[in-house]
Amino acid sequence: MAEKALELVVDGSVVGLGTGHAASDFVRLLGQHVRGGLDVRGIATSRATEALAREVGVPLLGLGDVDAIDATFDGADAVDPELNLIKGLGGALLREKIVASYSRRLIILVGKEKLTDRLGRGYCKRLPVEVVPFALPLVRRRLLEMGLGAELRSREGQPVPTDNGNYTVDIDLSTLEEDPRGLGERVRAIPGVVETGLFIGMAGTVLVQLGDGTVEVLT
Ligand code: A5P
Repeated sequence: MAEKALELVVDGSVVGLGTGHAASDFVRLLGQHVRGGLDVRGIATSRATEALAREVGVPLLGLGDVDAIDATFDGADAVDPELNLIKGLGGALLREKIVASYSRRLIILVGKEKLTDRLGRGYCKRLPVEVVPFALPLVRRRLLEMGLGAELRSREGQPVPTDNGNYTVDIDLSTLEEDPRGLGERVRAIPGVVETGLFIGMAGTVLVQLGDGTVEVLT
């Protein structure tokens, strides 16, 4: 799948570098091609991807160095038939959304298990939400009042900070009757919520790794 994605990389372009397994495979392959002479510069969506890009030799820029990003290549946790996404199980949703929103194209790399008729059903039943730590108790209370179960992402009893020093709360979508696309705006309106993992109308192309080794292109 990374090979297919690489065919979409234009020489001389600025490329957004996603986070997670699929995006990391792409970054490693991109590094190989950079070492072979491909001229690209990357914008990383997480500290982990930044470290990987440096390790494999992809030159990096900051958002302040560019007017726009030509194309961003990233993974996703769920993709619906309209190419709306849930992202953020890997904890990088805020920088991923910022980079995607400055990109002319968002190209998503997923296995076929991530495809779903409706977001919140199937492989990914959670919606990650990035929250300012100070506001956490009130955000959780507000989510409960909205009838939404939410779990704070923790390790060994401690909240796991994002690259931005915030926390992540995962909203349980499994019992939700409504389509979660509408939910995003209501959740974002809660003071202290920084961003949600709903990426609506942002992806232009989805590359799907099929079981037989071929890649299906959805547009
Ligand atoms: C990171 O925060 C996520 O949005 C990832 O892009 C997403 O979880 C997909 O990751 P994998 O490619 O590892 O499944």
